This record gives sequence, C-alpha cells and structure tokens, in this order.
Amino acid sequence: MKALEGVKILDMTHVQSGPTCTQLLAWFGADVIKVERPGVGDATRKQLVDVPGADSLYFTMLNHNKRSVTVNTKTERGKKILTRLIEECDVMVENFAPGALDRMGFSWENIQKINPRMIYASVKGFGPGDYSDCKVYENVAQCAGGSASTTGHLGDVPMVTGAQIGDSGTGLHLALGIVTALFHREHSGKGQRVECAMQDGVLNLCRVKLRDQQRLKAGPLKEYSQFSENILFGEATPRAGNDSGGGQPGRILKCKGWEKDPDAYTYFITQAAVWKNICDVIGKPEWKEDSEWATPEVRLPKLNEMFDAIEAWTMTKTKFEVMEICNPLNIPVGPILSMKELSEDENLRKTGTVVEVDHPERGKYLTVGNPIKLSDSPSEVVRSPLLGEHTDEILKDVIGLSDDEIAAAKEEGAV
Ligand code: COA
Repeated sequence: MKALEGVKILDMTHVQSGPTCTQLLAWFGADVIKVERPGVGDATRKQLVDVPGADSLYFTMLNHNKRSVTVNTKTERGKKILTRLIEECDVMVENFAPGALDRMGFSWENIQKINPRMIYASVKGFGPGDYSDCKVYENVAQCAGGSASTTGHLGDVPMVTGAQIGDSGTGLHLALGIVTALFHREHSGKGQRVECAMQDGVLNLCRVKLRDQQRLKAGPLKEYSQFSENILFGEATPRAGNDSGGGQPGRILKCKGWEKDPDAYTYFITQAAVWKNICDVIGKPEWKEDSEWATPEVRLPKLNEMFDAIEAWTMTKTKFEVMEICNPLNIPVGPILSMKELSEDENLRKTGTVVEVDHPERGKYLTVGNPIKLSDSPSEVVRSPLLGEHTDEILKDVIGLSDDEIAAAKEEGAV
C-alpha cells in the first residue's frame, strides 16, 4: 500500500504551482482528480506545443498519475457535481486568481459546510496585505520574494533563476501543509485551510539572504567577493554572483574546453578543513603554512587571487576530472551539468529521477520522476490524463451518477 493510498484529492489547480503539489501527492498514492473546464482544460495543455495536436510537455510533465474530469463549475449542474466531489474528497487544492473560487460560489465557509473534514489548500501570489488581489506568475514571485534582488552580478540587473522556486517551490511547501493537515485531522477529526503565498515560499528559500541583511549591521560581508575587491556595501544584501551562500568561499571556475563548451565549468568550494589538500592539488604546497594564506581570515581579502590560482589548475582538467581528483580528497566540487547531460545520466535513470514515459498522443518523452524516495511507497510515473479521460468513471464511481444523469450533464455542457 502506498503512503497516501485512500486519500482523495480534488485537484482544481492549473499551470505549475498547484499541479506540482498535486503531482507529488499522486506519486505518493493519492487519488488525484483533476477538474478541468470542458473543451478547454488546463491552459498549459496547449502552451509551448512541440507536437501539433498533442498535450504539451508543459502539461504532461506536471500532471502525471492524475485522473481528469471535465466540469463546468459555472453551470448549475456543474456546481452540484462539484458539491458532490467536495463531499467525497479529503483535500481540495486550487491556485486560481484571488476570489475566483468565491465567485464560483465555493468560499471556504461554504466548503466547510459541505464537508467539515475537508482540507482546503490554496496557492496565491501574496498573503493578506496590499497585494493580496494580484495575479502572480513565477518570475513575479521570484522578484517579490527577494530572490531576484540577490541573484546576478554586482552592478548588473537583478536576475531570475532557472529553478522554478516561485511555482514548484510553493507547490512543495503546499504539499507539506496538506500532509500536515491530514495528520492533524487524524486527531482533531476536522479539516482546515492551508494557504501558501508564493512570495512567502520564495522568501523562505532565500532565508540566508535575510540572514545577510541583518549581518550587514555588524560590518561588511567578508565572504562576498565584493569585500575582497574593496567595494563598499550598501544598505541591502547585494547580488553576489556565484559566491557561495555559506561561510566557505566558493566560485564557478573554468575547466578544460570552456572556450567552446558553455557548461565546461566546475563549482569549487574552498572548505577550510581541506585547505591543505587544495594547496597540494593546485600546486601551491607553500601556501599550506604561509601565514598570508593558511587561515580563512587571511584569505578572505584575497579571494580573486586565490580563485585565479585554483582556476589555473581547473582549466587544465575537464569538469569530471576535477570531480574525480577532488572528491577522494574531500574537496567539495561539482560539475556544471547541462540539461542534456542530466537527461542522459545513467544514475538518474536508475533511481527513477529521470523517467521515460509513453503517451498516446505524443509518444515517448522524458520527465523528472519523484525526487523524494520512500522505501515502502515507491512511485512509478504514470502518463498524464487526456482532457476528460476519466469523466464518466469519476462521475459514476466517485459520486454515483447514473448513466442518464451523465448523459444529461453532457447534453447541457456541464461536463
Ligand atoms: N469551469 C468553469 N470556470 C472555470 C473552471 C471550470 N472548471 N476552471 C476555472 N474557471 C474559471 C475561473 O472561475 C475564472 O473565472 P472568473 O475570472 O470569472 O472568476 C477563470 O476560469 C480564470 O481563472 P484564473 O485563475 O483567473 O486564471 P487566469 O488564467 O486569468 O490567471 C494565474 C492565471 C496563474 C495568473 C492566476 O490563476 C493566479 O494568480 N493564481 C494564483 C497564483 C498562482 O498559482 N500563480 C502561479 C501559477 S503557476
């Protein structure tokens, strides 16, 4: 039995943040019933289409292991169907624009009346306050949550990251909120509301930058390259390029082939505990006991000189050779891996983190499987549903509609 088997999720999510959350719950065995507008569906089905006529990778990669039912929740019959689904499900998840569900007639108060055990989880861009009415997408959240102002290079424009910390990051937070509320319901017998604002989720992931904001009061941030370059700090945590976020200075350094390969780089961390090994590897054994180099404090004002010396060595090796040499010496390094390299990585295929899926419309494609591994609840990835693929079975088996009722609902365009 899977960890969440028997839990029914009413999935009214779309785009990325909500679907990331419900896909995780589905991987753990929950029955995720995705409600979509008849004939339209989740907008991502037809966004960034690469195979004409087929559901896009944007959609398929966020909606595995779910069932799809179409319901027009703005029709009277559709509202009745949704009400029955609320009665039957344990969790309802949505990430509509603020107020959309209330306008449909399903406020939290109403949902509680329909099913007091319901856990109602939602993603919004902002929590209560000046911006609570705003629609929000990934990059807006990255900007509003502090990530963009602290990403990129000093003196350059703020930068968003490729990691979808606003959407997928908030979906992850929400999934934890849901399972926590399910656990709480075991004792209380009651459902509750779970809210996760994208701004809050991003800020949570940027907490080391809020740490640095407060450290500024005590003086310059010495592990930032800017300190070693004698550039004054301003009032806010600055952009730190590729400086390490922790107390051990690190940087991205060129490796053999960098002139032609945009990803021929390594991340190199000068962990204090292995400084002597670093000196030996880069051919600077004399730095081991030199009072100008031997301690982290004396190295901090000369980060550029130090990393130039290390880079002179990394440039003679491929990024994988750097890893092979440094790893046995406990020097923390990591190759910059491209999406192409990750998609071909044998280890990730073996662990099910990269999975090949077959889809009736688009054929085989790669996706990221469940990155969270449970020993007694393994996840296999099942292709995403076609629009309304499970409408009849859900209306019949979950809420007990008769064939005649289903036919009438279809006739009216309610499903
Ligand atoms: N039947 C009938 N109507 C439906 C429906 C269904 N099954 N599903 C959705 N709709 C309606 C909604 O009720 C809404 O109608 P309304 O505006 O008349 O109330 C309409 O579809 C559009 O929904 P909305 O959420 O406003 O979509 P959008 O495309 O305009 O905005 C977002 C998209 C993502 C910007 C917005 O949903 C949002 O800000 N969400 C919260 C934050 C978030 O999750 N952002 C990240 C997304 S990855």
